Amino acid sequence: MGDLFWNKVAGAVLAILLVVMGLREIGAIAFDVEGPETLGFPVDPALLEGPATAEEEESGPVDFGALLATASVEAGERVARRCVACHTFDQGGANGTGPNMWGVLGRTVASVSGFNYSSAMREYGADGTEWLYQNMYDYLEAPRRYVPGTSMAFAGLRSQEDRINLLAYMRSMSDNPPALPEPLPEEPEAEGEEGETSQVAATETPDAPETDTQAGDDMGERAEPGEVQPDEELAEDVEDTVEGEDDDEE
Ligand code: HEC
Repeated sequence: MGDLFWNKVAGAVLAILLVVMGLREIGAIAFDVEGPETLGFPVDPALLEGPATAEEEESGPVDFGALLATASVEAGERVARRCVACHTFDQGGANGTGPNMWGVLGRTVASVSGFNYSSAMREYGADGTEWLYQNMYDYLEAPRRYVPGTSMAFAGLRSQEDRINLLAYMRSMSDNPPALPEPLPEEPEAEGEEGETSQVAATETPDAPETDTQAGDDMGERAEPGEVQPDEELAEDVEDTVEGEDDDEE
């Protein structure tokens, strides 16, 4: 009887242990909530930079021919009001904080006589570089990024439309502006490089047996395609086919 009593006690203890452990396990499963990998919530950096501008349409070369053909000189003049604190645009206009802008397109950089350019700007024009559509467009987007060290204290024009219209206005404020570039042809995107693909295809095709007649040494080397294949299954496939062929011959 005493034996049985202790058996019961032991059984009860074991049962309790089991229940406790079971509960812990179930609890772990039920409540195992992993913390987020990163704290806080994601913020799209683009949202911090203010509203989207025409800027984002840009990709690849800017089609000055097409864009300038439809640009508005009047709208460009309105944009130029942001420049007139420092620049005059009319012919024979005086230099202010910045040099006169008459005929600036096609003009050599830093070439207005009597204006005291920064050494950065003089350096940029040292090799006879002219202001043309592309470099003016880039300079006006972010002057101090395009000509680091320039003394032009102007943040830049973010909007592509503004810059294009301003270019059109600059063309109009000139005796002899550079010719409008031809609109870019619409070229269909070339898909893939054929050379590459055909090469890959060639290496991937297991060119197995066929050459059974010249077996011998050759076969020894032929075993290698298996190594070349990074994919083991593929290698096995090749072996299988080789075996299959052997079977046929027998
Ligand atoms: C706060 C005054 C200021 C404003 C505003 C300003 N500029 Fe300038 N700009 C300058 C100065 C100063 C220079 C000379 C820069 C140098 O020497 O590094 C300059 C130089 C230039 C040049 C180079 C001229 C040359 O002869 O090589 C161009 C082009 C130009 N500015 C265009 C503009 C346009 C377009 C705007 C308006 C969107 C503008 N700037 C607004 C002060 C200004």
